[in-house]
Amino acid sequence: MAFALKHLFGLKGVSQEDITTILDTAASFREVLDRPIRMVPSLRGVAVLNLFYEDSTRTRISFELAEKRLSAEVTTFAKGSSSVSKGESLRDTVRNIEAMKIDIIVSRNSSPGTPQFLANHTKCRIINAGDGSHEHPTQALLDMMTLRNHFGTLEGLKILIVGDITHSRVARSDIWGMKTMGADVDVCGPSTLIPLHMDAFGVTVHHDFDEVIPEYDVLYMLRIQKERQSGGLIPSSQEYTATFGLTNERVKRMKPGAVIMHPGPINRGVELDYRAADAPNSLILDQVTNGEAVRMAVLLLLSGRGEE
Ligand code: CP
Repeated sequence: MAFALKHLFGLKGVSQEDITTILDTAASFREVLDRPIRMVPSLRGVAVLNLFYEDSTRTRISFELAEKRLSAEVTTFAKGSSSVSKGESLRDTVRNIEAMKIDIIVSRNSSPGTPQFLANHTKCRIINAGDGSHEHPTQALLDMMTLRNHFGTLEGLKILIVGDITHSRVARSDIWGMKTMGADVDVCGPSTLIPLHMDAFGVTVHHDFDEVIPEYDVLYMLRIQKERQSGGLIPSSQEYTATFGLTNERVKRMKPGAVIMHPGPINRGVELDYRAADAPNSLILDQVTNGEAVRMAVLLLLSGRGEE
């Protein structure tokens, strides 16, 4: 079956077939990353712009590396050193950039819906690298690749996403994608950080982390954003850790064979104990490596050169 997507805005509504095509393509690129020369000519002559209006370490670096390993022409836009500081709008910025013959734009922006906006105003293919608290599809794809590598399949896996669900684009993309792939996904956190209508996502909401820890194959811990504390949504980081943090004591009570995941950046000592992040059953650095392969796959498939 042909790959159906022209842009990657999010994983809501993306079919199991398209997700499988991305994960299978990423698996072949994962092998390329282990070769002495980690480069292929697949995107020679394709111009890619990384349009990052918001800070990033993992996503920006892995997209840049993925593009270079595919032999694309790569340009990275940093908001701080651009004419945005002189008042230029996103629309004008992008129209000018398009006039320089760009084929694919990778967009990170704090405003939900920015990728669709870019697609409406340019002819470029658009990849969402995180738009506000809406979606972060390549993070969810690398999470699914990591789980598929570890467990062989997502079908029937019991996954608990823990923390600030309300503000998490990672949680939304993971829920849509993992459920499409047959996983059983639930969420856990304080009621102040869980949206009211989670039933629309088809997940069960838990508030007692200790009670449910032994039931899950995957504990996916989310970053507690410091700004949430000043907003009164959690009383203090210490209290959050005491109730929802993955402490060493809680790691010991995980189901045998269960794994720990986190999208990064980690607040060590808050959502994860200092040692839990590096525990033998932590897949956190595997997630980062797989991110590069997944982004190579998405770039190739959206470029239309996948068939070649
Ligand atoms: N996981 C993630 O999106 O990390 P960055 O913000 O560093 O890109």
